[in-house]
Amino acid sequence: MTRGFVLVIEDLTEVVRAQKASAWREVARRLAHEIKNPLTPIQLSAERLRRNFSSAPPNAKALVDECTGAIVAEVEALKNLVARVPNSMKELVDRTMALYEDRMDKVKVVVDVSEDLPPILMDSLQMKRVLVNLLDNALAALAGEPLQELTIRCDLARDDTMARLTIADTGRGIASEDRERLFTPYFSTRKKGTGLGLAISSRIVADHGGYIGVEPNSPKGTRFILELPVCQESSLSMTSPASGSR
Ligand SMILES: Nc1ncnc2c1ncn2[C@@H]1O[C@H](COP(=O)(O)OP(=O)(O)OP(=O)(O)O)[C@@H](O)[C@H]1O
Ligand SMILES: [Mg+2]
Repeated sequence: MTRGFVLVIEDLTEVVRAQKASAWREVARRLAHEIKNPLTPIQLSAERLRRNFSSAPPNAKALVDECTGAIVAEVEALKNLVARVPNSMKELVDRTMALYEDRMDKVKVVVDVSEDLPPILMDSLQMKRVLVNLLDNALAALAGEPLQELTIRCDLARDDTMARLTIADTGRGIASEDRERLFTPYFSTRKKGTGLGLAISSRIVADHGGYIGVEPNSPKGTRFILELPVCQESSLSMTSPASGSR
């Protein structure tokens, strides 16, 4: 009887790389959490000092104002910095859609967002606010329409440097003359609308280095397009930011 061998050679480079990136994200997620915890007490203490010195002699008051002002501003900047961690678009979409479970009974919803997309450096609370604004608008536009469909997709765009999320509804659509004004504060065609939803959303997206746009959906309705820069591989393994969602 002749004996043979089966030699299996598997390239594990990708797996090891992904495991390393994931471990770094976890370390940084914890670090961000530890940094974040004392920030609010620091800010509140600085503000308390400022209030208590409001009737102090002018020199002392000016000094306290200057120092507490610097503390509050620096802490604010730090809060923003640690709020942005690599997050998965799929997780963000799933968590946001979970909020609408009871409100989408009449709507045919399609969500096509892959788990394999690279993470995005984002403040997930803020970005959730953006999605909520877009979804609220879509639901308002769909209300009472015979065809109620909502499609959410995410792909890579611009040489894979951006994640492009599209939220398309078959609602009543937007008049072409209104399209220019959508992102302007206080523009609203809704009775109870403040007209701030899209203005705030576009600000948040711009703060994240992204874009938001709108176009007609086919065969009808509206499609909002959100582009956000994805984390480059080098930034994941070198600067070790964290994954995590709120
Ligand atoms: N998906 C959509 N379909 C049709 N029209 C839309 C859609 N999204 C936004 N709009 C139009 O854009 C306007 C501005 O939207 P925005 O979210 O800024 O304010 P709002 O929804 O009117 O009020 P708020 O969001 O502050 O409650 C809306 O009043 C509506 O006319
Ligand atoms: Mg709105």
